[in-house]
Amino acid sequence: MLGAGGHARVLQEVLDEAGHELAAEPITDDAALGAISPSDVLLINGIGSSSDLGVRAAVFERHKAAGFNFLQLQAQTAHISASAKLLEGVQVMHMAVIHSEVVFEDNVIVNTGAIVEHHCVVCASSHIAVGAVLCGNVVIGSHTHVGANATILQGVRVGSNCIIGAGAVVLHDVPDNSIAVGVPAVVKSRS
Ligand SMILES: CC(C)(COP(=O)(O)OP(=O)(O)OC[C@H]1O[C@@H](n2cnc3c(N)ncnc32)[C@H](O)[C@@H]1OP(=O)(O)O)[C@@H](O)C(=O)NCCC(=O)NCCS
Repeated sequence: MLGAGGHARVLQEVLDEAGHELAAEPITDDAALGAISPSDVLLINGIGSSSDLGVRAAVFERHKAAGFNFLQLQAQTAHISASAKLLEGVQVMHMAVIHSEVVFEDNVIVNTGAIVEHHCVVCASSHIAVGAVLCGNVVIGSHTHVGANATILQGVRVGSNCIIGAGAVVLHDVPDNSIAVGVPAVVKSRS
């Protein structure tokens, strides 16, 4: 386990329930990891986010470059369509529902109670936060945070490095590097 904050604590319980064994105390610095061979363990990225996904993404990318691989974790109460495609390090938390033909790229979190409908694509290191809803055919770019209880309407494309605020209802496409809040969501540049 990389990290020791709130997301890591929840992951610890999901891992226990799924029968995985944590090999050691949570790893919080490079020195502790230096003693471990990449072929002996699977890592789990315990860094969460409520907006900025830069640290979580950097942790994943740095450890991949050092030869480590990441566990894909699915909580026991999650529903995941057999036709969904989940890449490395994807974490699907309790009561999440993932329907047909969805694709999640590396290091994505689908948090507790989120619903991802058919044919959505979520790119690398993005976070679909608790209770968020992606209607069908939505595309979410990389390093984007979809806030708690946000709703993205069908067919909408949200860019990379975006923040969708908690509770937002997104009706239209959102360009890269934007922040969108409110009902209906108003879009502003992050810079
Ligand atoms: C959107 C967000 C990132 C903005 O955070 P911030 O930059 O610290 O913004 P502030 O709290 O300073 O608020 C700035 C303004 O935006 C408004 N605002 C902030 N979040 C909002 C939201 N979710 N919906 C509507 N308005 C919001 C504030 O009321 C404030 O308005 P004002 O300037 O008229 O007073 C944050 O509020 C948010 O929604 N984060 C997502 C949290 C989340 O999903 N957690 C899940 C973890 S699993």
